[in-house]
Amino acid sequence: MKSEKHSIATEIAMLHFGESLASQCMGGDIILLKGDLGAGKTTLAKGIAKGLGVQDVITSPTFTYMQVYPVNTTQKGISQLVHIDTYRAEDVQTLRNIGIEEFLFDKKTLSLVEWPEKIYPLIKDTPYKEISIEHTKDNKRIVSITQN
Ligand SMILES: Nc1ncnc2c1ncn2[C@@H]1O[C@H](COP(=O)(O)OP(=O)(O)OP(=O)(O)O)[C@@H](O)[C@H]1O
Ligand SMILES: [Mg+2]
Repeated sequence: MKSEKHSIATEIAMLHFGESLASQCMGGDIILLKGDLGAGKTTLAKGIAKGLGVQDVITSPTFTYMQVYPVNTTQKGISQLVHIDTYRAEDVQTLRNIGIEEFLFDKKTLSLVEWPEKIYPLIKDTPYKEISIEHTKDNKRIVSITQN
């Protein structure tokens, strides 16, 4: 299992980091964003969206669980970005009912998932990238990336 770590000192640096990650993404990729409340998951998602040229403002989809953004660049077969946040979803069935599998397993969709623990049963046979963000005492963020 490959793993890499980055220390990110500011919100702006996190946005830039997301932009650089976007250039490495392909259609069908699933990126899990882990970390405590306020760790910076949505901030990183915003950076990735910016890197893909998404014009819409990325807001946390906490109350809808899922938000889809069209991607106009033809980068590596990505035609849309789905931003999923399971924090308030009761269980995996709730997420299946709103159709998240249609996005997770779509080859032209890049999926970003905050609070991914509930979806592990759905992706146990699928490759995914896991990004864990740790909030340090000096208000930096340690970002660890693992590819399963
Ligand atoms: N280095 C940094 N990287 C990212 N965010 C930072 C950093 N330093 C400070 N922040 C601040 O931390 C907050 C991160 O909020 P964000 O919504 O991205 O977290 P989250 O992990 O998505 O939280 P939640 O679990 O509530 O969805 C923002 O207010 C941001 O300005
Ligand atoms: Mg968030």
